[in-house]
Amino acid sequence: MVRFHEVGGPDVLRVEQGDPGAPGAGEVLVRVAAIGLNRAEASFRSGRYLEQPRSLPARLGAEAAGTVEAVGAGVTGFAPGAEVSVLPTFSMNDYGVYADRAVVPVDSLVPLPGGVDMARGAAVWMPYLTAYGALVDTARVGAGDVVAITAASSSVGLAAIQLCLHLGAVPVAVTRTAGKAAALRAAGAAEVVVTEEEETTGALLRHSGGAGVRLVFDPVAGPGVADLAAATAPGGVVVVYGSLSGQETPFPRVAVAKGLALRGYTVFELTRDAERRRRGVRFVNEGLVRGWLRPTIDRTFALDDIVAAHHYLESNRQVGKIVVEVG
Ligand SMILES: NC(=O)c1ccc[n+]([C@@H]2O[C@H](COP(=O)([O-])OP(=O)(O)OC[C@H]3O[C@@H](n4cnc5c(N)ncnc54)[C@H](OP(=O)(O)O)[C@@H]3O)[C@@H](O)[C@H]2O)c1
Repeated sequence: MVRFHEVGGPDVLRVEQGDPGAPGAGEVLVRVAAIGLNRAEASFRSGRYLEQPRSLPARLGAEAAGTVEAVGAGVTGFAPGAEVSVLPTFSMNDYGVYADRAVVPVDSLVPLPGGVDMARGAAVWMPYLTAYGALVDTARVGAGDVVAITAASSSVGLAAIQLCLHLGAVPVAVTRTAGKAAALRAAGAAEVVVTEEEETTGALLRHSGGAGVRLVFDPVAGPGVADLAAATAPGGVVVVYGSLSGQETPFPRVAVAKGLALRGYTVFELTRDAERRRRGVRFVNEGLVRGWLRPTIDRTFALDDIVAAHHYLESNRQVGKIVVEVG
């Protein structure tokens, strides 16, 4: 299993021998085949996440795929041998899936989607459920809506582009550097805004025919939200779901005049609500089966190379998901 004994950079991660123990009531022991890496784990490791590690050494990891090895008391619906994905439903202070075997709550499991291998089974749920929760469940994006997607090359950003295309909306990808523009166009972005080369508000207004975008889907936060709000149409929605900038976010004055909804959001809103989660899982499964959702894996690493995987995660060179294969 992977643990860290102090908060800090990728080098604090240690691959250690350890027995996850037997699953308790409502828990399942999973033999992990693949782990989906998320920026949240780098933030948790460095003490900059929404919650701090409660005690050290601490575990890590919220998303995986594997095979059920044993079930605890009261568990129904999953039996040993079942192939499953682990959804982000729990606090990393309680469970962590960076391991060859991990105990998780049964509520975090769904059957591995049909036709999906273990690597993709570990790369599906965080990106697509996060994007679904904001675009469909919250903002009800529809045909013709222009959606600004910042950090668009992230696994969540790419998922949002695919959702927009399915919904008939117009995805405008925002990235810092020109290096990722071609990949974002290939991923389906109708337009790409490179913030190091052009002014964000003007570019977004231009790409929305001057009217402003209907939705901003933003994990960067900080002062840039004022520029995004300035490019949002009256009555539009700005969903802030991360804090990559590390800076405080102002409440833009323009949001008052235009009646914007500025909303914080995490995927847990969806995954911890049985009914909303059921709808989201059904939507994503259908997308995978019909092919309008296609998980984008940038690169895979071995579990022993978890330090290198985290260095790469923080390099910002990736376009899509980083997956760790186990065994
Ligand atoms: N609220 C939730 O439930 C939830 C769920 C999943 C993810 N998230 C958040 O979504 C974000 C993306 O997660 P991920 O795991 O998909 O990320 P990722 O694949 O690691 O991608 C992150 C991308 O964000 C951009 N970026 C990084 N630092 C930035 C900065 N300071 N300013 C602007 N852009 C920056 C980079 O793209 P460019 O270099 O092209 O700009 C980078 O490639 C993270 O903030 C994560 O915490 C939130």
